[in-house]
Amino acid sequence: MSQQTINFTLNGVPTRVTVPVQMSALEMIRNVAGLTGTKYGCGEGECGACTIILDGVSLNSCLLFAVECDGRQVTTVEGLADDPLGRRIEKAFVDAGAVQCGFCTPGMVMQARQLLEKNPHPSREEIQRGIEGNLCRCTGYVKIIDAIEAATKE
Ligand code: FES
Ligand code: FES
Repeated sequence: MSQQTINFTLNGVPTRVTVPVQMSALEMIRNVAGLTGTKYGCGEGECGACTIILDGVSLNSCLLFAVECDGRQVTTVEGLADDPLGRRIEKAFVDAGAVQCGFCTPGMVMQARQLLEKNPHPSREEIQRGIEGNLCRCTGYVKIIDAIEAATKE
């Protein structure tokens, strides 16, 4: 299988990895870079569990080839540790009880981060639309929307 070396910024850290050209960005993040916060749900772009931010745009990392990260800025949920908005959203999820099994949570938080950066004061409907690509099998979404709404008010 042919391999390629790529250089990119992962959560602010210059990173160089050599990966098979067919490897997804999700596999690379989890299995090569060792950051397991980004989850593998469906592998088909349907669930949003694998959401990352690439050059300021949220996307499903299962649908992206790792080699497409070359030269770009990649942020995963681990990268929110030093990010005030990301931390505020994470705290709001905990405070609102918006986490049950937690499998969807990293993707939800990343998507919420993207939403609030673009629209700091969304309506509930806009929040609902903003996370429509992220599936949760546990919560019924109400507490997730409550959490994102609460994060806009702090
Ligand atoms: S694992 Fe990527 S969208 Fe489901
Ligand atoms: S908390 Fe379990 S899938 Fe969302």
